[in-house]
Amino acid sequence: MLEDQKPVPTDYLIGLRPGVSIENTGHQVVLCRGAEGLTLRNDEASLRFLEKLSSSSCTRSELLGSWEQNPPASLKGQVLLDRLGDLEWLIFSLDFDAPEGRSVVTAVPVSPGESSGMAPQPWDRPALRAGGRLSPFTYSRWLSGSTVLRSPLSAYEVRATGPALPRLLASFTGLRPPSAETSALLDLLHRARMTDEHEEDETVLEQWEFHDLLFHCHTRDGRHERPSGGTFRFAGNLDEPSIPPVPALHQSYFGDVIPLCAPEGSTSTDDMGLFQALQQRRSVRQHDAPITLESLGVFLHHCASSHFTDDIDVVQVSRRPYPGGGGLHELELYILVNSCPGLEPGLYHYRVGEHVLCRVADSGADTEALMDDAAFSMAHPRPQVLIVVTSRFQRIAWKYETIAYALTLKHVGCLLQTMYLVATAMSLAPCAIGGGNSELFSRVIGSSPLVESSVGEFALGGSARTMDGGR
Ligand SMILES: Cc1cc2nc3c(=O)[nH]c(=O)nc-3n(C[C@H](O)[C@H](O)[C@H](O)COP(=O)(O)O)c2cc1C
Repeated sequence: MLEDQKPVPTDYLIGLRPGVSIENTGHQVVLCRGAEGLTLRNDEASLRFLEKLSSSSCTRSELLGSWEQNPPASLKGQVLLDRLGDLEWLIFSLDFDAPEGRSVVTAVPVSPGESSGMAPQPWDRPALRAGGRLSPFTYSRWLSGSTVLRSPLSAYEVRATGPALPRLLASFTGLRPPSAETSALLDLLHRARMTDEHEEDETVLEQWEFHDLLFHCHTRDGRHERPSGGTFRFAGNLDEPSIPPVPALHQSYFGDVIPLCAPEGSTSTDDMGLFQALQQRRSVRQHDAPITLESLGVFLHHCASSHFTDDIDVVQVSRRPYPGGGGLHELELYILVNSCPGLEPGLYHYRVGEHVLCRVADSGADTEALMDDAAFSMAHPRPQVLIVVTSRFQRIAWKYETIAYALTLKHVGCLLQTMYLVATAMSLAPCAIGGGNSELFSRVIGSSPLVESSVGEFALGGSARTMDGGR
């Protein structure tokens, strides 16, 4: 038999989503999941319906057949099935009896409940148009023995197991006309909103890049069911964590140490009130006076120095001038010096606890490339100083689940504004930079990008402007 003549599953097998409990209380049967509940009369038709539903092996019409003996009551079955669908308590499967062996593909809701507005019901959705294909937002992962297809536009995940699957998925390449089996699979994916027939306004969708939408949906609640927040998932027993937390202070480099000025030791009298700094803050890309080592020290002290660490739940926390989730402060500051009298050009790490710079690397092709990137982004000559902000990711991921990287980016925002305001108050020239090369920077500091990676850049220099902002 030719492949496209094989029998195709004509209807979906409908079952109950994992986590829905059924309790028979005598007069009633109660279905429950989380805070939601649904009560049915304890009669023969309801019990037959629930037995079939629990087996995940019946189609919609077979399920409605539970009320066959009493036609008006089958309406009750439709209402019930729609209600279960609205609650997102139903799963839909295709069972492929392929030559390689049995393969099962199941669409399982992954959003917490009705809030995701997964309407219309998958079975009510018009079938996929001819030539329809997978959405560019759909992706697959190999997880716990199954291939899992997901899309940030879908309230479902599609889990697939079985030996026919690689062949079925490979047929989505479009190199061959879809077989009957592939069409059935595509139709299921369409009903789970994973094909290119999107309900959303195309001009809105076009402006979402895949990685942005994926990141957004997975770091905010509503489209996933994973735990989110400070779950301490790597802590195990807090007294004896399964993975020890990363210490609050960065393991130091071994280069020369340069002591820095603190505000007390500074001769500067440039003090501006907060409200004036907020009013006068501007991005200044032109450096028309040299930045001094003294002002660099005072600047770093106000922005990022830390004089306090404490142990809470076996993780060291600290305090810095800008806020940070859980006091973990995973951000590190590196100072790439182009020109600063008293400081050799090169790369330095700022030790927040000691308020000193530690030399990390000499200038070279890589550091020059980092400077050139910053200059290009500002459309100005190289800055006198480029501050590169890194994240020691494991420090924050040890405590926070689902939102760890999103938190880091928020922390960068807090730090950037702090640096802007301090620079403004000190009459320096500040400018945030929107992008940077993390791979290159990790290479310069000799770290794995998975352990410590650059996440923000900030150009700083001296400015000839006056304290009243008159430029
Ligand atoms: C996160 C962030 C990234 C930025 N990236 C750049 C950049 O790459 N190049 C640049 O010249 N300015 C950059 N800026 C500065 C903005 O262009 C600037 O804030 C904006 O034009 C408003 O001007 P103002 O800061 O003087 O109020 C960035 C600002 C922020 C907050």
